[in-house]
Amino acid sequence: MKIKVGVFFGGASVEHEISVITMNQAISSLNPEKYEIVPIYIAKNGVMYTGDDLLDLYSFKDMDVLLKRCYKVAVVNDGKGVKVVRTPAPLIGKRVLNTIDVAFPIVHGTNCEDGTIAGFVTLLGIPFVGPDIMASSIGMDKILQKKVLKESGIPVVDFVSFYSLEYIKDEEKILKEIEEKLDYPVIVKPGNLGSSVGIKKAKNKAELEEAIEFAMEFADRIIIEKAVENLKEINCSVIGNLTECETSVCEEPFFSDEILSYADKYIGNEKTKGGTIGGGKGANIKFGSQKSGGAKTTNNEFSNKKIPADISKEKTEEIQSLTKEVFKVLGCSGVARVDFLIDTKTDKVYVNEINTIPGALSFYLWEASGKSFEKELDEIIDIAIKRQRDKEKLTFSYDKNILAMQGGSKGMKSAQK
Ligand SMILES: Nc1ncnc2c1ncn2[C@@H]1O[C@H](COP(=O)(O)OP(=O)(O)O)[C@@H](O)[C@H]1O
Ligand SMILES: [Mg+2]
Repeated sequence: MKIKVGVFFGGASVEHEISVITMNQAISSLNPEKYEIVPIYIAKNGVMYTGDDLLDLYSFKDMDVLLKRCYKVAVVNDGKGVKVVRTPAPLIGKRVLNTIDVAFPIVHGTNCEDGTIAGFVTLLGIPFVGPDIMASSIGMDKILQKKVLKESGIPVVDFVSFYSLEYIKDEEKILKEIEEKLDYPVIVKPGNLGSSVGIKKAKNKAELEEAIEFAMEFADRIIIEKAVENLKEINCSVIGNLTECETSVCEEPFFSDEILSYADKYIGNEKTKGGTIGGGKGANIKFGSQKSGGAKTTNNEFSNKKIPADISKEKTEEIQSLTKEVFKVLGCSGVARVDFLIDTKTDKVYVNEINTIPGALSFYLWEASGKSFEKELDEIIDIAIKRQRDKEKLTFSYDKNILAMQGGSKGMKSAQK
């Protein structure tokens, strides 16, 4: 019997298109002997769809046609398992289209990777791949994450954070606090976005004010960080659970501007071949067809990088060890990627952030470390199944219904005491 893997992707996030690509990369490497893929596409308006056309990246060029060829569905636990049911129920034909044994969220960004989908799949009560609700939310939140990491003795840059409403109320007070605590240049970021959206560097007060106003367009909480100078960025992937994890080789992503932008991350490298779709925020994402394994080889989410990174053995080990610590402190599971900022003059390493569901599931880092994408996927699905088994050993609810054991309304009152 094959394991039915429900792959959840898309979502109401600025990284919607990236999720579609990561999902397409993953499904082309899932072992067809072991797994049956049940695609669950979450449209930007939150409606869920299933259908075979979702397995082909080319179908996403024309969303209207694609969605007409798919079924609108709800994913529900009916007490006997998790079912994918048509909604509204059809007058004729099957209502239950499929079942799911393991949920595999492949989503990026806010409203998705931030615990939203983790919560949804937790409610389904089946194993799910990747971080739980808490790890997901802290993993997406640049402010809470830095606070937790700092408290755990993990090196992060100095920072100041505040709510937009506080800034609107007393701008001067906050600007004063920033200038007292941090020297220019600083980096201004929305508190909980990804893909460099809303991020700007500021070298003086005027630029700081402008950058804050800009970041406030994207989030209601803002973080200002001391900018790392003589910057070298290094990323490292990690696979595991709370007790055991393994790290990959390191990569050095390259950037064309001061800030590694959405475009740097996702716009095509001219050398790559394949179709082009206009992705979010003007990004042209190149891809091939799933059958030719194209998305995996032509997507250049990973083409602007050096693997392994050009750093010493000692630095590599320091980064790998910090990667494991971050993964553990934040309570992650499955595959993640931890991003670092290095000041090449002082050689000091800072943890920038974790990506709890990394782009392309970091497969290119694992392939470079000798682990095939197929093996990576096998491992993270196994981790999900084992976690669910361990979880079921814990007591979350009692079989006896306390309400049924009470007498009349008097009994109810005593139950509250
Ligand atoms: N403190 C910092 N100092 C210098 N550069 C930074 C700093 N923080 C972020 N950057 C630059 O901005 C990019 C995006 O910031 P990051 O926090 O990783 O946001 P995102 O979640 O959008 O990827 C980084 O990859 C790096 O190039
Ligand atoms: Mg980043």
